Amino acid sequence: MALGDAHAPGATPLDPDELEGLIPPHITTQGELNEWEQSNIIKGQDWALRSRNANANRVLTDRFVRLLHKRMFDDTWRWAGEYRTSGKNIGIEWIHIPEQVKVACENAQHWVENQVFEPSELCVRLHHRLVVIHPFPNGNGRHARLLADLLLMRHFRVKRLSWGGQDLTRPGDNRERYLSALREADQGAFSPLLEFATQ
Ligand SMILES: Nc1ncnc2c1ncn2[C@@H]1O[C@H](COP(=O)(O)OP(=O)(O)OP(=O)(O)O)[C@@H](O)[C@H]1O
Ligand SMILES: [Mg+2]
Repeated sequence: MALGDAHAPGATPLDPDELEGLIPPHITTQGELNEWEQSNIIKGQDWALRSRNANANRVLTDRFVRLLHKRMFDDTWRWAGEYRTSGKNIGIEWIHIPEQVKVACENAQHWVENQVFEPSELCVRLHHRLVVIHPFPNGNGRHARLLADLLLMRHFRVKRLSWGGQDLTRPGDNRERYLSALREADQGAFSPLLEFATQ
């Protein structure tokens, strides 16, 4: 099946195989899919915010990374919580995903234990690393934003990031600023992303 309307800039198109994994049978447009995903994500977010032991030791594990994605997309995609097994125009080679998610989690654990970065910067850097890896066929941006926010709220007990203060899932200025800050982070400059996410 194909969904008619265009994707937001910077979003990964889905393979036909991945589209085959769409659970709700009645969805035919990108707009209907966005709405459906959004209510699934809210359910997943509620679960994450109420989840016991959402501290760094638990959240910063490859197991939790997959579990959070599953909880955010389990009514939407049959492959929710499963790493991708195909190449994308963004992200590392899929074969290295399991090992690289582990490394990203271990690095972030090290940053937490040794207070290498203050909490917002730590979470922004982790967010960037996860979207660069791009572990899942879809939902990587939303998943890595929630993971960063969860760590801030439940481990560090501070407020979540603003992410520019406006809806990031729609095309527009806020998304353009987010994507441009990510591209700077790709080059090793994290200040624009940190500024964007905390403004
Ligand atoms: N140059 C880049 N460097 C790092 N990450 C990027 C870059 N361009 C896009 N991304 C990330 O990839 C995400 C898109 O991937 P994907 O479609 O899997 O996520 P999503 O949650 O479905 O997207 P959305 O952001 O539309 O909600 C963007 O949200 C962003 O986080
Ligand atoms: Mg997407």
